[in-house]
Amino acid sequence: MPEQIELVHRFRGIPFSTRASTELLQSLDDFEAREDDVLLVSYPKSGTHWLAEILRNLYNCHTENNTTSQVTLTSSLEFGDLSKFQELRNLPSKRLIPTHLNCDMVPVQFKTKKCKMIYVIRNPKDTAVSMFHYYQQNPHLPKIDKWSTFLEMFLKGQVVYGSWIDHVLSWEKKENDENTLFLYYESMKKDLPTYVKEISSFLNISVTEDQIKDISKKSSFSEMKEKAEKEKVNSNHTVCALTADRKLIFRKGAVGDWKNHFTSKQNTQFDVLFKEKINSSVLASRVQYECQ
Ligand code: A3P
Repeated sequence: MPEQIELVHRFRGIPFSTRASTELLQSLDDFEAREDDVLLVSYPKSGTHWLAEILRNLYNCHTENNTTSQVTLTSSLEFGDLSKFQELRNLPSKRLIPTHLNCDMVPVQFKTKKCKMIYVIRNPKDTAVSMFHYYQQNPHLPKIDKWSTFLEMFLKGQVVYGSWIDHVLSWEKKENDENTLFLYYESMKKDLPTYVKEISSFLNISVTEDQIKDISKKSSFSEMKEKAEKEKVNSNHTVCALTADRKLIFRKGAVGDWKNHFTSKQNTQFDVLFKEKINSSVLASRVQYECQ
C-alpha cells in the first residue's frame, strides 16, 4: 500500500495527514496566540463544520446589530507548512481557529493567554462510521474499502489523529476550566437552540430568542448541505485539515448510523476495548453510546 505512506505520516506516534507538515507540527509551540482567539476543537468527524457554522452565524448577527467587529474563520491550525503561522499572523482579530489537535499539542500560548476553546464530542461509534466514509471518498486519505478493516484501525488508533479515547482523555484536564466549553453532538441534535444559547453566553455574545431560532435554522444539516452543494468543487475554504472540498463533509448528519454498520460482535469488541477508559473519563462517560 505505497499510497498510504504518502498520505499519512506519524508525528509523536500519532498519524497525521501529510497536509500537516512535520515542520509545522514541530513548531506548534512557537505559534503566537491572541487573547481573543477562539479555538474550535474536535476529533475529526465530530461536527467541526457544524460548530464553525454556528459560530459564524452568531458573530454575524452580532456584527449586523452592534459593532463592526470582524471575525475570521481560519483554516485548520495544523493544516499546511510553516508559512501558515505568518498567514494567521496577518489576519485581523478576532480569529476563530479550528483544530483536531489533542490538548497536549495545542500551542502553549492558547493556554497561557486563557483563550476560549470549544470542544465538540461525538459518539465514537458514529464518528468511526463517518470517518470510514470520509476515508473512502477523500483523495487526501488512504483508501480503506472494508468497514471491518477500518474499524480495526480505528480501535487501534491507527487512523488520522490517533485514538478517539486518547484524544478525549487529553482534553479531560480542561473539564473544569472556565475557558473551555464541552458540547456533545447528540445533545445538539436533540435541541440545537439550547446549545446556540449556551455558546453565545460562553462567548459573551448577546442574542435574542429570534436570532437563536434563525441561527439554529441556518446551521441545520439540510441548510448546510444545500449550501455546500451550490459551492464550487474544491473551494479553498477548509475547516477540517483533511479536505478542501466541503461537499465531502455533509453525508447523513444523523445520530445512530453506527447501528447500520457495526455487527453485534464488533459492538461488543468496541465496548470491551473502550469500557475501562470510558469509565475513567468524565467527558467520555457523558456520551450517549446507545442512542439512535
Ligand atoms: P456524517 O458523516 O455522519 O454524516 P466534521 O465537520 O468534524 O468533519 O464532521 C462531519 C460530520 O458532521 C458528518 O457526519 C456531517 O454530516 C456532520 N454534520 C455536518 N454538519 C452538520 C449539521 N449541521 N448537523 C448535524 N451533523 C452535521
